[in-house]
Amino acid sequence: VNRIGVLTSGGDAPGMNAAIRAIVRTAVYNDIQVYGIEEGFFGLNEEKFRPLTSRSVANIIDRGGTILQTSRSAFFKTPAGVKHAANKIKDYNLDALVVIGGEGSMKGAKALSDLGVNVVVIPGTIDNDIGATDYTIGFDTAVSTAIDAISKIRDTSFSHNRMNIVQVMGRHCGDIAMYAGLACGAKALIIPEKDVPLEEICAKLIEGHERGKLHSIIMLAEGCGHYRDYVPKIQELTGVETKGTNLGYIQRGGAPSHFDRRLASYMGFQAVQAIMKGDVNSMVVTKNGKFQVIPLDEAIDTPKVFDEAMYHMIQVLSI
Ligand code: F6P
Repeated sequence: VNRIGVLTSGGDAPGMNAAIRAIVRTAVYNDIQVYGIEEGFFGLNEEKFRPLTSRSVANIIDRGGTILQTSRSAFFKTPAGVKHAANKIKDYNLDALVVIGGEGSMKGAKALSDLGVNVVVIPGTIDNDIGATDYTIGFDTAVSTAIDAISKIRDTSFSHNRMNIVQVMGRHCGDIAMYAGLACGAKALIIPEKDVPLEEICAKLIEGHERGKLHSIIMLAEGCGHYRDYVPKIQELTGVETKGTNLGYIQRGGAPSHFDRRLASYMGFQAVQAIMKGDVNSMVVTKNGKFQVIPLDEAIDTPKVFDEAMYHMIQVLSI
């Protein structure tokens, strides 16, 4: 292996830089040249290549976002776009490409591998919606950021005896809502994995109020809709003044947690080792505390399993 490329794709996530750093440092250590490709698959097609050295990844382990920048490319999703991109990889004589991103990026990497490009995927997204891995890079930091914001909402919620709906990201996955909800003692969860009638959720909220609970946090995963649509309904069903907040993009930024830095470092390190072993068209995952490299096809086919036990526990603890 002489030369590899790395790009970040889809929504950025804290820890992506730590992964880039680990890839570059592991490659340089093994005398492999690295090209950083800016702005994801879009930049690949636009030939936005830049050589990365050990020094170019100094002082980034603690930085949120991605120094390579990212995008969601419409052209790359077309057969012509993928072909064009695969040719760029050949033009630059890249022996393999490391793709850091979420579900869409996995599919993009798969499309390239179908055209003969050697790829290794690292799961990076705040959503934690990839079934093949227990954690994706950025999720832990996003949950911590949400917790920090929720504790501030809780203060004002208490002062005013209000219900507060807190909307978090996650696309179709309720993990950010569920993990932050657990950590903040939220009274209710509205997540796509559980179709609970609003009447039932509100009955529980009223019960809490009748037992003297003065305020309640309701976690809403964006996959269930916007908080603005829930505010009047919950207020009407509970008779308690209800407000809402969309935490939005603050969840995507900030310095990565130690957990995400560690996850990203291991995954970057292992991705380069996988390339050196010829273990390509694969994805680096963590399962039950162990890092593994599995076939990309298998990773794509692994459904995300909802943690029913955790959901049940949260219901018990939030009575
Ligand atoms: O996938 C990460 C994510 O932040 C999702 O939680 C959210 O639905 C989406 O990206 C937002 O995308 P954009 O940055 O394009 O607005």
